Amino acid sequence: MKKLIVANWKLNPSTLKDAIKLSSSIKKTKKNTVVLCPPIIYLSNVKYPNLGAQDCFWEEKGAFTGQVSPLQLKSLKVKYCIVGHSERRTVGESDDQINDKVKLLLENQIIPILCVGYGTTVEQDDLEVVDVLKSQLETDLRDVDTSKVIVAYEPVWAISTGDPYATKKVATPDHTEKIAIFIKTKFGINKVLYGGSANLNNAQGFLEQPNIDGLLVGGASLVPNQFNEMINL
Ligand code: PGA
Repeated sequence: MKKLIVANWKLNPSTLKDAIKLSSSIKKTKKNTVVLCPPIIYLSNVKYPNLGAQDCFWEEKGAFTGQVSPLQLKSLKVKYCIVGHSERRTVGESDDQINDKVKLLLENQIIPILCVGYGTTVEQDDLEVVDVLKSQLETDLRDVDTSKVIVAYEPVWAISTGDPYATKKVATPDHTEKIAIFIKTKFGINKVLYGGSANLNNAQGFLEQPNIDGLLVGGASLVPNQFNEMINL
């Protein structure tokens, strides 16, 4: 079964030239489906079979300075859009706003990659994660055809701070498999990804699990040698 590997470049790289160079160094593969999510400003210049945005606004058009709408993303042939990333939630994004984004993306035939996750420590996550995921997903997916949404489970404590070589703790594949089953059975989701310091050393363990359908990769997606191996696992 093909898995879905999504590269979240975050606020990298710093120039258009480097963005084009990075995208052209990522191989095209038939083994898995690969989506590159560069910063929005580079989307019309980066060429790759599947492109995604890292965020969008919840209104289609109007007086909203600095925002980018799903309608505009559609005009750039963007197929996927990350929403609800923990780095957006920490700057104040609410589940109601995320819900509006998910709905508007679907209206524009863009597949939302909805990020959920919790916990500043492994211990906190173990105790409360299911309750928190349930509450996030109940609001994020309100009045939504959930079969069209991809969910990325990203424990907040596992997300790296930007150093592609940093070795941080990751969730175990077993724990993530259980969470994926919970998300699928409770919310009618078809695809669940794992994210949080996914790299070449730990990717295989997640990809082997039947209910983990792929990875959302930050830091390691900026290192072409490493990412090219990951997308061919
Ligand atoms: P990371 O980022 O792989 O650098 O931890 C993943 C993400 O935040 O989507």
